[in-house]
Amino acid sequence: MTHLAIIGGTGLTSLKNLEITHREVVHTPYGEPSGPLTYGTLGGKKVVFLARHGYGHTIPPHCINYRANIWALRSVKVDKVIAVAAVGGITKEAGPGVIVLPDQIIDYTWARSSTFFEDDLTHVTHVDFTYPYSEPLRQLLLASAKKIGLDAVDGGVYGATQGPRLETAAEINRLERDGCTIVGMTGMPEAVLAREIGLEYVCCSVVANWAAGRGDGAEITMKEIEENLALGMDRVRSLLETVLPIA
Ligand code: HPA
Repeated sequence: MTHLAIIGGTGLTSLKNLEITHREVVHTPYGEPSGPLTYGTLGGKKVVFLARHGYGHTIPPHCINYRANIWALRSVKVDKVIAVAAVGGITKEAGPGVIVLPDQIIDYTWARSSTFFEDDLTHVTHVDFTYPYSEPLRQLLLASAKKIGLDAVDGGVYGATQGPRLETAAEINRLERDGCTIVGMTGMPEAVLAREIGLEYVCCSVVANWAAGRGDGAEITMKEIEENLALGMDRVRSLLETVLPIA
């Protein structure tokens, strides 16, 4: 049976309509995940939920134990992951509140434990990552968005930055020259770890703010981020409830 997980990011530390059945603390060879796994039903479908930054939103992007999170999900037989993430919008279609379903990644992060393939190796492994996200899952999300009349951006490049600070305007100019559509701090190594361990993985990103130097160029405030996320995450909740029964 398909076992689907949702990883919630900033603005989605819980799922309002999730009927929780139980929680499970999972220990992994890589340490502790961000919190216990929450099991429940959403849209009539069984699902496992994990808050990436912890249920109290206390773990910053560069301190998340991505390996433990992904390992924990795999160890309970999850095979599909919808990863929800707050991002900054770089290009004009990616305005605040918009949902973007990226199809590519550029990784600018550093000093994160970004592979399972480093201990006890009998041979060097180079996992294929040409297309970092599961296209079938992405298409399911797109079809579900259409079904509920939600305008989601189909495709785009997720630029993963180190954080926790936001970027400079020059850094965002560089990301745009590189081809990035959106910028976030948690997309990597989460996506590649999922690939290494054989999970189908897709990113459902919600634009929280115009990236540095975009929009009217004003300073980015937490208030703005929170307000846009409140709206965007309501959209994500509707999308998840629509997609889960068919995923
Ligand atoms: N940059 C990086 N990560 C983010 C942003 C941003 O502007 N907004 C939300 N997450």
